[in-house]
Amino acid sequence: MNQHDARGEALSTDRPASVAVYEHALDLFNSLRLDPVAVLQPALEADPDFVSGHLMMTGFMLSAFDAQLLPAARASLEAAAASGRPPTARDQSFQAALHLWAEGDLGRAHRLLDRHVIDHPRDLFALQLTHMSDLVLGQPTMLRDRIGRALGQWSEGDAGYGYVLGMHAFGLEECNEYARAESLGRRALDLNPHDTWAVHAVAHVYEMQGRVDEGIRWLTTGTAHWQQGNALAVHNHWHLALMHLWNEDHASALALYDRAIAPGAASMAMDLVDASALLWRLGLRGVDVASRWAALASRWRDQAAWGWSVFNDVHALLAFVGDGHSPYIETARRAIEAVPPTAPAPWWNEAGTLCEAVMAFGEGRYAHCADLLLPLLPDTRGFGGSQAQRSLIYLTATEASRRAGDTALWKALRSEGMARKAPVVQVARHERLLKAA
Ligand SMILES: [Fe+2]
Repeated sequence: MNQHDARGEALSTDRPASVAVYEHALDLFNSLRLDPVAVLQPALEADPDFVSGHLMMTGFMLSAFDAQLLPAARASLEAAAASGRPPTARDQSFQAALHLWAEGDLGRAHRLLDRHVIDHPRDLFALQLTHMSDLVLGQPTMLRDRIGRALGQWSEGDAGYGYVLGMHAFGLEECNEYARAESLGRRALDLNPHDTWAVHAVAHVYEMQGRVDEGIRWLTTGTAHWQQGNALAVHNHWHLALMHLWNEDHASALALYDRAIAPGAASMAMDLVDASALLWRLGLRGVDVASRWAALASRWRDQAAWGWSVFNDVHALLAFVGDGHSPYIETARRAIEAVPPTAPAPWWNEAGTLCEAVMAFGEGRYAHCADLLLPLLPDTRGFGGSQAQRSLIYLTATEASRRAGDTALWKALRSEGMARKAPVVQVARHERLLKAA
């Protein structure tokens, strides 16, 4: 007889011990603590017909967007398909989506996940995976509204309820509802101090509102549990580095890169994204990071899952351009351009333009870079990632215009950026920058 998870979803196993492990691994994944894979693996060996467990493992692997994990993702899917136990309706629906995702068709997979979490709003694992793919696919309103759709089926005492609030907080932030986002993120943390995603949601609020000192306090002394042994440790350190950049404190940002962001033995592609993004931003500011690009480029060479995400692929290209190793640059460009423009995930049509712009910047053709990026600026959502991450495009266009000597464009873009955060950012700083131009 099938068992149920703590929220009532039917799982394809008759073993309570397998469900207990599922719950443990899910809680680790929800809070991004390490290592849900190590927790789940022995249960799959003991219960090889545990379809829901194999699908969970598939989700762990796919959500890393890392080429090195794709074979394991496909093997987990095959193990689910080979199970002698009939899958539950929940597992059938979820499996169909993961199958498309593992084939590289995240766009169609996402449409199935969209329906799956409507039919199974208390399937916390699927909800989190879909939240993550909303982020990768650049759908900020769904970061908020998908969780909103599910919330009506949740109650305060439900296992994992706080994580749902944490996801909603991040979605609200990405929709510029900063006050609600901050309040909800803090409430999620009151319910569960291990909710790293809620820590992250509030950090985003500070970043977007330019509340730098509060943000630094939040990430250094105001929160705990995320700095080590957590899949979001690199990313939250990246947020802390951005706050140092707000303060023009390049030395602290660079020190943070070396201590907590540069690739280590266990770095996943999502960590390499943050490393690329920070080195690129430091380079835009004229900080000499040349010696750090080679190690990062080398990791991207092994871990880039070309064609899965414009966002990830362009971040890999940043490292190759930063490193200046032309064969890698060419490999990246060809891989990105090989994706058919009809790919269901967004922005593959713009990927070639982005590649050309990044390469032009690397070659010192700044006016060309700015010309290419300017038409993309009004709506960068399709690039994927958060608002804070997507601002890389704006920052690159701004610096390219300055280096090109296009003073009018540079002044306009600087003014645009400062005005966007003007309600909180010191107006005096805004005026000082414009006068200095
Ligand atoms: Fe973030």
